[in-house]
Amino acid sequence: MTTPTTRIWDPTIRLFHWLLVGFLAFSWWTAEHHEMERHRFSGYTILALLLFRVYWGFAGPRTARFSRFVRGPGAVVAYVRDLGSRKAHAADGHNPLGGWSVIAMLLAVGLMVTAGLFASDTDGIESGPLATYITFDQSETASAVHGFVFNIILGLVALHVLAIAFYLLWKQQNLVRPMLTGRRPAQDHETTADLQWSPVRALVGIICAAAIAWAVSRGFHFGAAPTY
Ligand code: HEM
Ligand code: HEM
Repeated sequence: MTTPTTRIWDPTIRLFHWLLVGFLAFSWWTAEHHEMERHRFSGYTILALLLFRVYWGFAGPRTARFSRFVRGPGAVVAYVRDLGSRKAHAADGHNPLGGWSVIAMLLAVGLMVTAGLFASDTDGIESGPLATYITFDQSETASAVHGFVFNIILGLVALHVLAIAFYLLWKQQNLVRPMLTGRRPAQDHETTADLQWSPVRALVGIICAAAIAWAVSRGFHFGAAPTY
């Protein structure tokens, strides 16, 4: 007999997550190997992913919505107090503490992309498509921010992976499988309904996010090919 499960993540959130992981790694690799054309392409893809995620935070199903998982200090403190208990609560989406780590990661990656768009390296050879809108000094500052925020992302990702390991080892709760399949094991008296989502809404978000990222990649110049 198969174990009953409940769907808590829609396919686009899962796709968003694993594409983000892949493209962040690719961004790092291309920067290390000075493959800047690919580095910028990877950055625009991450920009599109982030734009879609923000849209989905308002238009997506319940577990994607910011209003649902961004909780006040009371809920966070109550959750943290109970963190040591080995009893696992099968959450319907992010828990109150995890919700804030999601916001922190999205903000850090957003800052990384924004700084990259305005960045120039010291000899001005490599730059982002929006660097021409600011002075060279400002662009150098953006570059410094770009380098610094990468370390913040590394720190947040390390915490993220440690937290997931903690749930697995201490609470015997596998959070990774639901991020892959969309489903977690149902509880004894399951009250949560399977998550419903709208592919049409998702498609609207994907098209808009891709269009905006494309316009940004052109530095908002739509005539001749960009010169950077
Ligand atoms: C979240 C996505 C991104 C990651 C993880 C990332 C990562 C990095 C890293 C690790 C470096 C080397 C920094 C250093 O040498 O100190 C770098 C450099 C650079 N990146 Fe990105 N980057 C991202 C997005 C972007 C975007 C969207 C653009 C512009 C389209 C961009 C443009 C540049 C440029 C021009 C440099 C060379 C100048 C510099 O050192 O700042 N990056 N990036
Ligand atoms: C570059 C590395 C990573 C980044 C930037 C990242 C970022 C994120 C973000 C933003 C979310 C929230 C999803 C959403 O609501 O949109 C999330 C959730 C999640 N991530 Fe990652 N992630 C990374 C690596 C990983 C890895 C390596 C794993 C597996 C070990 C993982 C497993 C998960 C799981 C299980 C969740 C759902 C957590 C929950 O149940 O609340 N992530 N991640």
